[in-house]
Amino acid sequence: MASSAPVAIVTGANSGMGKALAQDLVESGWKVAIADIQENQAFQKELGDASSFYKCNVADYDSQAKMFQQVWDTYGRIDALCANAGIVDKSSIYILDHRNSEVIPPKPDLLCTDVDYKGVVYGTQLAIHFMRKNKEPGGKIVINFVRGASRVLKQKEGISINAVCPGIVHTSIIPQAMVDAVSPECLTPVSTIVAAYKRCLNDASVFGKVIECSAAQQFLLETPELANGRVSKRAVTVWDPLFKMYHHELSGLPDAIP
Ligand SMILES: NC(=O)c1ccc[n+]([C@@H]2O[C@H](COP(=O)([O-])OP(=O)(O)OC[C@H]3O[C@@H](n4cnc5c(N)ncnc54)[C@H](O)[C@@H]3O)[C@@H](O)[C@H]2O)c1
Repeated sequence: MASSAPVAIVTGANSGMGKALAQDLVESGWKVAIADIQENQAFQKELGDASSFYKCNVADYDSQAKMFQQVWDTYGRIDALCANAGIVDKSSIYILDHRNSEVIPPKPDLLCTDVDYKGVVYGTQLAIHFMRKNKEPGGKIVINFVRGASRVLKQKEGISINAVCPGIVHTSIIPQAMVDAVSPECLTPVSTIVAAYKRCLNDASVFGKVIECSAAQQFLLETPELANGRVSKRAVTVWDPLFKMYHHELSGLPDAIP
């Protein structure tokens, strides 16, 4: 018998934002499945019968699959996945410590990618599977994204990092049937992609850009304006003490917060 109340899985709900969200959802009449790598079940007890706890490592597909199955078996429905679990990247992509070394730097620690990216992809796929089985098929998936750090690379290393988004380009990975389904003016020739690469390679002013390649044209997609001005700007501006903690020197960015 499926639960009469809607059911949300909140990953990483034993702390921080996930905890606050789980509390709020329970107060709003949801059943909440707390999925967290931390063993602590005290929070679930505090929330009471409207919640349940599942020990789960979102970076491990089998662990998430087991959790989803258990939630389904308990409630008979899954209406929302709040893919909140995540960690901070404590590795240093800039490897500033190795600047004067001939030794190949150590393998990057990609745990953050495993948890914050792969964990979300795993959860999304599992949510799709189970949300299809709901009595009224469908559901909601909520995810956070983060932005990259092109300015530090440019400032400290003179390295430009950009992204080229190809559209549909008729190469061997695109089946002919797909090409036939797209009107010719919506195909992007390889020459546009090459031109975008060349632009990144030859124009020093192009860094931290996403280039939309569409038919014969390239469009530089600027980072969207923050909607809440100074308040949001403060949240995404590099804070030098934290930068130094991870990278062992200051960022060198003129607008960093000291
Ligand atoms: N706090 C911020 O300023 C901030 C800013 C941007 C993004 N975020 C992101 O927001 C989300 C919530 O962060 P928070 O500030 O509430 O952090 P938090 O550390 O208070 O809570 C994170 C929770 O995720 C759990 N968790 C960590 N790894 C896990 C795993 N592999 N599987 C399952 N659970 C795991 C932790 O046990 C913890 O309960 C995270 O994804 C974080 O990266 C936070």
